[in-house]
Amino acid sequence: MPGVAAGSSERGDGGTSARLSWMAGVVAPVPGERVLEVGCGHGVLVDLLATAGCDVLAVDRSPTMVAATARRNAAAVAAGRVRVQAASLLDADPGSRPVDAVVCVDVRAFWTPPAPEWDVVARVLAPGGRVVVGFSVMRPGADREIAAAVERLAAPRRLRVTGLHRGGAAPIPWAAVELRAALTRTG
Ligand SMILES: C[S@@+](CC[C@H](N)C(=O)[O-])C[C@H]1O[C@@H](n2cnc3c(N)ncnc32)[C@H](O)[C@@H]1O
Repeated sequence: MPGVAAGSSERGDGGTSARLSWMAGVVAPVPGERVLEVGCGHGVLVDLLATAGCDVLAVDRSPTMVAATARRNAAAVAAGRVRVQAASLLDADPGSRPVDAVVCVDVRAFWTPPAPEWDVVARVLAPGGRVVVGFSVMRPGADREIAAAVERLAAPRRLRVTGLHRGGAAPIPWAAVELRAALTRTG
């Protein structure tokens, strides 16, 4: 995919990462799209999405992680193409313009009830927008369990599962649930 480089193995500092390069491929960013990443960690995926031409809002409840994301993406932050916020998604200020895509990787809140984060996602997402919930598959079968939990939590918010992607390899493969918002809003 243009703008998304294949990464090497995972490094402790969240450096170039095959896992996050694969997740970026699932997001399939289109230049000019607005993307919200929840739980951005070291900002590796933010970098891949911004390099692909997206405007990115990166949120993490850890100030340390947000500082790392800001450092890694300093040029894009200075250019106004990446914004960072140290906040839980529940307290974040996503601005008034809807986003085209929401992505989160290895953020358990998205499959752990009651997951009020899904209310925020439904609110900020543009009609027809997409969500990618990526995760590491820590044991056999966990991918199906997490995908089912995501589907249960997202469905009442009018988000429909459109795919379950699988990547990586043993001992810790990866997976991502892809969802779409309804084309019309209620209320
Ligand atoms: C396991 S790390 C994953 C980091 C990165 N996405 C990755 O895959 O390398 C989870 C991150 O999500 C953040 N996080 C968890 N729940 C969150 C929430 N509700 N709102 C914002 N950030 C959250 C944590 O602070 C942490 O940095």
